Amino acid sequence: MSILVENISKTFSNYQALSQVNLEIKNGSLVGLLGPSGSGKSTLLRILAGLEIPDSGRIWLEGQDATNFPLQQREIGFVFQNYALFPHLTVAKNISFGLDIRNIEINLKKQRVQELLQLVQLEKFADRYPHQLSGGQRQRIALARALAVEPKVLLLDEPFAALDAKIRKQLRGWLRNLHQEISITTVFVTHDHQEAMELAHEIVLLDNGRIIQVGSPNEIIDYSPDNSSNLFRNTSNSFSFSFQG
Ligand SMILES: Nc1ncnc2c1ncn2[C@@H]1O[C@H](COP(=O)(O)OP(=O)(O)O)[C@@H](O)[C@H]1O
Ligand SMILES: [Mg+2]
Repeated sequence: MSILVENISKTFSNYQALSQVNLEIKNGSLVGLLGPSGSGKSTLLRILAGLEIPDSGRIWLEGQDATNFPLQQREIGFVFQNYALFPHLTVAKNISFGLDIRNIEINLKKQRVQELLQLVQLEKFADRYPHQLSGGQRQRIALARALAVEPKVLLLDEPFAALDAKIRKQLRGWLRNLHQEISITTVFVTHDHQEAMELAHEIVLLDNGRIIQVGSPNEIIDYSPDNSSNLFRNTSNSFSFSFQG
């Protein structure tokens, strides 16, 4: 599904979280929203999902004005920053949650859960509970759950932020392969420059609620601190570019 963000602004109390954001996301693309903490990444993602309503501007999904559609109407799968699996449900039950509330026929449901377990390479874990899995495995289950209802867009808010560096790197590779396999339009949020570079086909740089650059990882690498923006003067601890040499 293609997404068009048109002139979106959002204010919280007196704080301007997003200012006149315009963005086109092509069907099947893998887009990284990159920026320092507080730059508006999550707000933009939540507006795409229908979890937040913009003050002004429009969201178009596949050419249809979806600005006021609730999440359920948008065919979007969302993976939150802190994956929230249901602790009292098995892996299989967690994955089928969205199918259970949709009255899907039982055999079809079983088949779908099986396919998703294969997709995230956790077939053997169907009967385990979340606390019996590693963080990386839990996050793969959260992804399978988001995909269960066959969304047309996958939105991920810092999906790997809670994991250690090695697992994070593995999961990036894994997500890239998954995207290649199912080529669903995917937008992920990160404050990690390297993560955006390694994973995204296209990077959207956000700072202070504004988009300051859109481009392929190569184009973003060429982005020089000299020619723009207070992004590089931002000393926020969660974000630093290094462009030496
Ligand atoms: N529900 C909210 N109420 C008040 N302020 C908010 C709310 N959500 C976000 N903000 C503020 O908007 C700004 C952007 O937040 P956010 O989109 O979460 O940034 P990011 O995800 O890039 O760290 C931050 O300054 C944040 O404090
Ligand atoms: Mg955020």
